[in-house]
Amino acid sequence: MSVYSKARKITTHTLQEMKRAGEKITMLTAYDYSLAKLVDRGGVDVILVGDSASNVMAGRETTVPMSLDHMIYHAQCVEKAVERALIVVDMPFGSYQGNSRIALESAIRIMKESNGHAVKLEGGAEIVDSVQRILSAGIPVMGHLGLTPQSIYKFGTYTVRAKEDEEAKKLIADAKLLQDTGCFAIVFEKIPAHLAKMVSEELSIPTIGIGAGGQCDGQVLVLHDMLGITTDFSPRFLRRYLDLETQITGAVEAYCQDVRSGDFPNKEESY
Ligand code: KIV
Repeated sequence: MSVYSKARKITTHTLQEMKRAGEKITMLTAYDYSLAKLVDRGGVDVILVGDSASNVMAGRETTVPMSLDHMIYHAQCVEKAVERALIVVDMPFGSYQGNSRIALESAIRIMKESNGHAVKLEGGAEIVDSVQRILSAGIPVMGHLGLTPQSIYKFGTYTVRAKEDEEAKKLIADAKLLQDTGCFAIVFEKIPAHLAKMVSEELSIPTIGIGAGGQCDGQVLVLHDMLGITTDFSPRFLRRYLDLETQITGAVEAYCQDVRSGDFPNKEESY
C-alpha cells in the first residue's frame, strides 16, 4: 500500500517512510495564507517557508537581509492555512551561525511563535553544533547543502556547486554528518545529478533536490518561479507550470479598461 495519502497529515516520519517505500516527496515554498492554502490543497507533502521570501516577496537581490521576525511573520501566515503538509521554516542568515545558544533561541522562537513543524539550516560541519543543540530541544532539523544562498558573498556566483572533487568530498562528508547528527532530511541545491544520486542512495534520510537531478528522494521549487509569477529568473532546472505573469497583467489591464470605459461595475454588480 502506498504511504502517500491526500488525507494523511505529513510528519517527518512520513517522509522517511516515503523514502523507504521509494515514493517521491514533493515540496514547494509558500510565504502567505492565500497561496499556502492552495498549495496545501494541491497535495504537496512539505511547505517550505523559505528565506527566498527575501527575493520573491520583498524584491531583494539576496536572502541575506531576512530577519527572524520576517521569517516568523511569513510562517505564521502559512501555518494558519495548512492542514496537511509538513511546514519547514528557514532559519535566516545570522540566526544560527557561530553560536549554538543563539541558534537554539532562534529555533525556539520560530517554533513557539509560528507553530511551524521544523526548521532548515544551510551548511555542514560549520554549523553542526547549532544543529545538535536545536535537535536536543526536540526540534526537527532539515539540512541544506550545495548552493547555500546565504553564503552568496563567499561563493560569488549562483553557479552549480561541488563539480570539483574536493567540494564533492566535503558535500558527501557533510551529508553523512548531518544524517548522523539527527537531521530528518537534506536539501541539495544545484549540484551535479550523479553526485546527488550517489549520496541519496547512501543516506537513509530523504534528500530533496532543486537543480540536483531526478534521483533525489524528492523535489522542491520556489512557488513563484514554477507559477511563472517571477520571470526574470530562468535557471535550467526550473519547470514553469503556469504563466501567471501574462495572466495577471492581462487581468489587471482588462479591469483598468472596464473601469475607465464605465463598463465596471454594471447593474448586476451594484446594490
Ligand atoms: O529559501 C528557499 O526557497 C530555499 C529553497 C530554494 C530550497 O531554500
